[in-house]
Amino acid sequence: MKIAGSFLTIQKYKEKINDLNNAIDQIHFDIMDGKFTEKPTLPLEIMEENLKDINKPIDVHLMVIDIKRYVNKVLKFKPAYITFHIEATDDPGYFINYIKSKGIKVGIAINPETDFDEIYPYLDDIDLVLIMSVHPGKSGQLFIDVTDRIDKLYEFRRRNGLSYIIEIDGGINDETIKKIKKADIAVAGSYITKSDNYQEKANILRSEVNE
Ligand code: DX5
Ligand code: ZN
Repeated sequence: MKIAGSFLTIQKYKEKINDLNNAIDQIHFDIMDGKFTEKPTLPLEIMEENLKDINKPIDVHLMVIDIKRYVNKVLKFKPAYITFHIEATDDPGYFINYIKSKGIKVGIAINPETDFDEIYPYLDDIDLVLIMSVHPGKSGQLFIDVTDRIDKLYEFRRRNGLSYIIEIDGGINDETIKKIKKADIAVAGSYITKSDNYQEKANILRSEVNE
């Protein structure tokens, strides 16, 4: 399993970015518009300053209503993945094609309270499913048990010979990570960034899941 670091809580501190960079496998770049979520993230220009030092693949998590506008804004970061929320649009197919047309892999995120059946029609066409284990909006929340969703996606992928990546986001720590062993990527924010030693925390997470 890979560990993606969310720098939502430290994006103001440029000097911390390098530590995070060294500790994790990829950067989970949260963007909130203050409409889909209660509060917005910092202006993109400020985040961009910090992102310059990142030398790991970037996975963008758009928690926004105007998906196209933000896709266009993040293209310059050359992300490996752009993920949008299924709750933010009536036409996910349109945005799947739009993101693919830019040569970028595409993910769909699904909130804990959303009917999980909504995701199935798109599984053939996407590269990543982001299962939210908190309500989008802030880091440091308690993990909501979404283990059954991971199992379903894992089995569906195996049975249908698909290859999407399963990523879990929210409330991951050294205990909750034990419940999500079938996932491919775990996003960790506050568990890592609350500590002074990011490397140590990331390694603890890895040791819980990678025998
Ligand atoms: C929540 C964000 C998450 C969050 C994770 O809205 O999408 O990526 O930053 O932070 P922790 O790991 O602290 O729950
Ligand atoms: Zn996120």
